[in-house]
Amino acid sequence: MSEIASLEIDGEKYEFPIIKGTENEVAIDIKALRGATKGIITIDPGFKNTGSCTSEITYLDGEKGILRYRGYSIEDLAEKADFLETAYLLIFGELPSKEVLAKFEADIKSKSHVDEDVKKILDGFPKSAHPMGVLASLTSALIAFNPDSEDVDSEEEMYNAIVNLMGKFPVLVSWALRKKQGYPLDYGDDSLGYVENIAKLLFKKPSADYVQNNVVIEALDKLLILHADHEQNCSTSTVRVVGSSHAGLFASISAGISALWGPLHGGANQAVLEMLEAIKADGGDTKKYMGKAKDKEDPFRLMGFGHRVYKNFDPRAKIIKVAADEVLADLGVNDPILDIAKGLEQEALNDEYFVKRKLYPNVDFYSGIIYRALGIPTEMFTVMFALGRLPGWIAQWREMRLNKEPIGRPRQVYTGENSRPFVEVNKR
Ligand code: SDX
Repeated sequence: MSEIASLEIDGEKYEFPIIKGTENEVAIDIKALRGATKGIITIDPGFKNTGSCTSEITYLDGEKGILRYRGYSIEDLAEKADFLETAYLLIFGELPSKEVLAKFEADIKSKSHVDEDVKKILDGFPKSAHPMGVLASLTSALIAFNPDSEDVDSEEEMYNAIVNLMGKFPVLVSWALRKKQGYPLDYGDDSLGYVENIAKLLFKKPSADYVQNNVVIEALDKLLILHADHEQNCSTSTVRVVGSSHAGLFASISAGISALWGPLHGGANQAVLEMLEAIKADGGDTKKYMGKAKDKEDPFRLMGFGHRVYKNFDPRAKIIKVAADEVLADLGVNDPILDIAKGLEQEALNDEYFVKRKLYPNVDFYSGIIYRALGIPTEMFTVMFALGRLPGWIAQWREMRLNKEPIGRPRQVYTGENSRPFVEVNKR
């Protein structure tokens, strides 16, 4: 592979360095392009061909269906790790020793209290409010109650802001759910592990003792690991760009939550269940919905299918599909929606339109079926995605800040009106 890329414009030749990553990904470094060419830039809507950064956190191979966090395969981590040690790995780069993990967990627990006054903000929301909007708002509101976490520069200040948010975020997630349920708002239980505490925050009923279900805990832990990071996706890029202005960690994560909310991104897991429910209500007529998905006149898309990077199976979807069978069997849940999903998948995998466009099930296609079996309402599915993605967003924000990356400010090509004189209103 050459180390130089050449560009010729109007007989002028320009050369730019080629960089290569540790997995042999190759990029043309065009940092000097605009200066060298006296103003020429590139344009790439949706950044389909554009790298925003180099990163040491997550590696994806879309053709081979490979996903690794800091070099560890998603298959190994989903089977052998737990969510908190995976969070530590993503943020700090190494799997922690028992002692380091215990300190990380203790530091998180020491910061898990959310100021009672935050409940007054929550009170202002109608029960009908979407929990992603509630979560984005409360995450941003936390800034007012945690000024020390706002303007952080040193690694120690960043660490304190990180454990602060890791401690408080599950409480906010729980409050977003319990607000809709009309349940009392709890602070969790420091005697429990990180994911055990999340389960208790989500599932404890006001009028009954909480009984821990290890099938639920293990399923939650695996789902949170599978959602923990995914390199420069829409919401992570949002976190990095917002953080690049030196807006604080909480503000950057709040922006990431809003980006994840969209149905083309994290909101797809809710849209998948709504789509499957519609197909079920329609007598299970999957062929009709396949036809809608292929009809260019119809805005309907097969939610949970397709991916910007994976042009093969999303490795997470494979793991979640197996887990869905296991969890539903362990919980004794028989959900016809799972059969409709499997039928839809088989049809799509054998359909020319989907095969030609390399559209496979992604992480969102089966995850909602497990969330539903765990008793999580459909509107909370994307909130669960955010809960899993939190350590990935934090890791990417921290890497961007430690690398002292410049503020994210893309260029554009103007295609509007040329200069023209102002016209008085009585002459228009
Ligand atoms: C996530 O980026 C990440 O890593 C995201 C994520 C993460 O972990 O952070 O993996 C999580 O967001 C997963 C994706 C969840 N979204 C959905 O399931 C929504 C449905 N899928 C899509 O809308 C779509 O596939 C995207 C948004 C995921 C990817 O869109 P691209 O890469 O911009 O592809 P495209 O829209 O240009 O589609 C290419 C072709 C088009 O047809 P043609 O114009 O070539 O004829 O494929 C078609 C599209 O119409 N197409 C679909 C389709 N997805 C793409 N047609 C029907 N149903 C679909 N789902």
